[in-house]
Amino acid sequence: MKMPVPAVGCESEEELQARVVRGPLPRHVAIIMDGNGRWAAQRNLPRVAGHHEGIKSVREVVTCCRELGLAGLTIYAFSAENWRRPMFEIQELMMLLELYLKRELSTLMERGIRFRTIGRIERLPASVVEWIRRVERETASHQGMTLTLALSYSGRSEIVDAVRRVVSDVQAGSLAPSAIDEDLLEQYLDTHGMEDPDLVIRTSGECRISNFLLWQMAYAELYFTKTLWPDFRRRDLLAAFLDFQQRERRFGRTGEQLQGRAG
Ligand code: IPE
Ligand code: IPE
Ligand code: MG
Repeated sequence: MKMPVPAVGCESEEELQARVVRGPLPRHVAIIMDGNGRWAAQRNLPRVAGHHEGIKSVREVVTCCRELGLAGLTIYAFSAENWRRPMFEIQELMMLLELYLKRELSTLMERGIRFRTIGRIERLPASVVEWIRRVERETASHQGMTLTLALSYSGRSEIVDAVRRVVSDVQAGSLAPSAIDEDLLEQYLDTHGMEDPDLVIRTSGECRISNFLLWQMAYAELYFTKTLWPDFRRRDLLAAFLDFQQRERRFGRTGEQLQGRAG
């Protein structure tokens, strides 16, 4: 049993952060940012206003994760299914993405953050792809934290693509079928070399995974909050970390085993 800790109350951000750093932190956090449209609708604004405001949350969350020394932060920014949205909204999202990359490059450089992407990037507009490749290239040697954006991403497609590449290597004779195991398949995923997320956060009250990191989140702790993404800031992230610290990650074992009371 873990000792109960007081719920997040009216403490200052500094006090919250001091509480958070006393406990174990996730090494890799993945976030399904959701609720931009509803945030805008509540204010009688167009949906894109929610996406604009959501960028501020992205900045704050990236800064906070870097400060806390996380190894990885993965953000679901555009799903393969999001191509079904109205053309105007897609164009606006692509424009915002390009703007984000242009503006954030200097911050990523200053803070030693490595940038990478997962998903079918080649489907994005050419100018966005160019910026993605540039930011990936310029931050490639950074060791501080890896910020991964999932763009035109589908967990199922990622697995299908990986299987295709495995089959092609088997056919070419460079891979023996007997060598195929979980570790090998992982090397063929977009996320190769990345640790699995310890914590997956979804905002806006939806309790679903929406085709995100299906393979990788096999043992992640899930955290759902009603807060809409544009309202999700440092305090909310710290609250999610405090909640994470209350979880007992058993990976199949019993609680007694973890406490060393029984073998
Ligand atoms: C998340 O907010 C942003 C993206 C999926 C790009 P939504 O745009 O899904 O917002 P809601 O769910 O309509 O409120
Ligand atoms: C999931 O959000 C995808 C991203 C956060 C990019 P959606 O808002 O598109 O998810 P669904 O369609 O409601 O499940
Ligand atoms: Mg949504």
